[in-house]
Order: sequence, then structure tokens, then C-alpha cells
Amino acid sequence: MIPYFKKNHITNELDKLHSFYQGIVVNPRQEVEIDFKEKYNLKSFFLTKSCTQSLELALMSLPDSKGKEVILPSYGFVSLANAVVMNGYKCVFVDCEPSTMNISAEAIENAITQNTVAVMTINYAGVACDYDKIQRICKENNLFLIEDNAHGISCKYRGKYLGSFGDISTISFDFFKNISCDEGGGISINNVQLWDGFVKSYYFGTNKQAMTEGHVSSYEWKHKGTNSLLAEPLAVILYTQLQQTDKMIRQYLSNWSFYFQELQSLEKDGKIQLAQIPEYAQHNGHIFWIKTADKSERKKLIDFLKKNKIGSAFHYTPLHTSEFGRKVGEFRGEDKYTTTESSRLLRLPQYYLLKREEQEKVVEKIFEFYK
Ligand SMILES: Cc1ncc(COP(=O)(O)O)c(C=O)c1O
Repeated sequence: MIPYFKKNHITNELDKLHSFYQGIVVNPRQEVEIDFKEKYNLKSFFLTKSCTQSLELALMSLPDSKGKEVILPSYGFVSLANAVVMNGYKCVFVDCEPSTMNISAEAIENAITQNTVAVMTINYAGVACDYDKIQRICKENNLFLIEDNAHGISCKYRGKYLGSFGDISTISFDFFKNISCDEGGGISINNVQLWDGFVKSYYFGTNKQAMTEGHVSSYEWKHKGTNSLLAEPLAVILYTQLQQTDKMIRQYLSNWSFYFQELQSLEKDGKIQLAQIPEYAQHNGHIFWIKTADKSERKKLIDFLKKNKIGSAFHYTPLHTSEFGRKVGEFRGEDKYTTTESSRLLRLPQYYLLKREEQEKVVEKIFEFYK
């Protein structure tokens, strides 16, 4: 048989790469998708090129957007807001909880109007949002829940894996995350009501899936959509990384606990604040943050650490005060914590290959700064 198509491996490099990874796993995308769905109790799981793309797909899968609003945390990554705007919804930004920096359930409840269609959450640093409250609010008000679990691989809320709470959930495998293939993402559709819109969006906005399953003889343009497939070599990297998930997360958690224990006395003395992990949350140590007294002290600490050859970084700046955020959205309710708390938050070095002696130096220098 002459196949109608063959992969055009015109370069030696691609040929070599292909024969190398075929020795590891033959269908990397399929294997990752099946394993991931089973391990994390998801209704479905699809790889994508990035979590940013997954968020765009999530919003594409919702019904009509005209005049409708989506509630999301102002303390959050820009990809959530872009997905909202690109799909014709208005961004309604709300406040966070200072102890976790997660979206506040109370702020969500107070921001709902007849135009609200969905709520987006981020499990910041892999720490679960308060899903008993948030799911109740969404159910009572007939809202879809989009759970951005970019940070939260293997994390749990009351013993149940994150990623399984949203009608749709997303994850990131970019180079900053605990488990990574350099650039990649995933999406789970947990609500069958959204399946039809999603599956068309995922396959270029067509009903190609129906053709593959033999329901129609040819496919056509049906919906908004995009090319979502993760490149096969990246899926192989992800496949090998995922085999090591438990070991890698143990290392992240060990680093996290070391900082937490060592810095507790500074918190007791009122110099800094540390994250409070709610009793319902089992996290993965993805980010270790402290809070300084204010923004100017944070700047001094960043400079001091830099002088001592230690990198540190702040995180999201509030979306509602950004140039574009002011144009396309509004903050609803009181900005009690978002602006002040985000300007005090500082991320310390945290990664799989971080050495204990490096952490000791970080801790020593922070103590020196506060002396
Ligand atoms: C909460 C959150 N969502 C989404 C993203 C985007 O992920 P990706 O880089 O896979 O597009 C990030 C990036 O760090 C993030 O922090």
C-alpha cells in the first residue's frame, strides 16, 4: 500500500530524534493523555501547546459571549484575562485571600450579576482554592467554573486532585513548572455539556473528530478553533518527566519545608509573613513566597539578595490596574488585598535542582537583611 501521507523527515536530526524516541514510547501523546486522565481522576485530558492555549480553548468552549462577563482574580496571570477578552467576554476582576493569594469566594459571590457566565480560579502556588464554597456559588448561580491548575500538578483539595473541580480545568508544563516539557499544556473537560464546543475548538474549529469516529464522511468549519496539538518530541519529554512526578514533587516539598521552618522565627518577630496552607489543601511546593513589610522594603531585599548573588522575583501585578486591564475590565468590590499584598510578595529560589547549601545561603542572607 502506498500511504496517502508520510512524515517528511528531511533532516538527519529529525530522523535521529524520531528513531530515538520511538525506543521510549511509540504514541507519546496518547500515552500521556491516558495516564494523566487516569492518575488524576479527570473526565478527559488533552495535551495542548501551552496552558495559555488551554485557557483560550476553555473560553472558546463556553456558549455565547455577547454582553457576558467572566469573574477572575486580579492577582493572576495575564493569560486568563487574554482568553476572556479574545472570546468576547468582559473581565470582572475581584479580590484575593491574603493568606494564599487565591481568589476570594466572598468577592466572587458579591460580583455576580445577571450577565455573569463563568468564574475562573487559579490554584496559586499549587494551593487549592476553597472549592466547597466556590462550587456552591457556581451551582447556585448557574455559572461555569474554569479551574486554572497551571501550578497544581498532584495537589489536592480535601483529598481530591485539583483539576477535577472545574467544569474545565487547565494545566501548564512550561519550563517554570514542577513537571515540564519546556513548553506545553493540557486541558480537561469535566462537564459533558461543554464537550461539543470544546472538541470542535480543539480540532481547528471543525468536526474532524466526528469524521475520525466515522459519524460523518468529511469535515467542515463549525466553530471557533485552533491547532492545539503538542509537538510529538515534547510529548516524549513530558512522558519521561511524568514517570518521575512523585520523586520530583517530594524534592519541591522538601525545599519548601526547609524555607518554611527556617524562616518561621522571622515571622514570629513580625519581620515577614509566610503562606498559610489551609487544612483542606495538599500542595506541591511549586512556589515559595514571603511577604515583606511593603513594596519599598521588598525592593531593598531584592537588591540586597542580588548583591549577594541570589535571584528573587515578585509575581503578578494586579491585572485591573494594568494599562489594558483598565480598558477591558473592571474591578468589582473592594480592593482590600490585591494591590497591597501583591506589592509585598517575593518569590525565593525554588526548583528541583536547588541545593540545600544554596537554600542555607538564602536564609542566612534574609536574616542578615532583617538584623
Ligand atoms: C496561573 C497561570 N496560568 C497560566 C499560565 C500560562 O502557562 P503557559 O506558560 O503554559 O502558557 C501561567 C504561567 O506561568 C500561570 O502562572
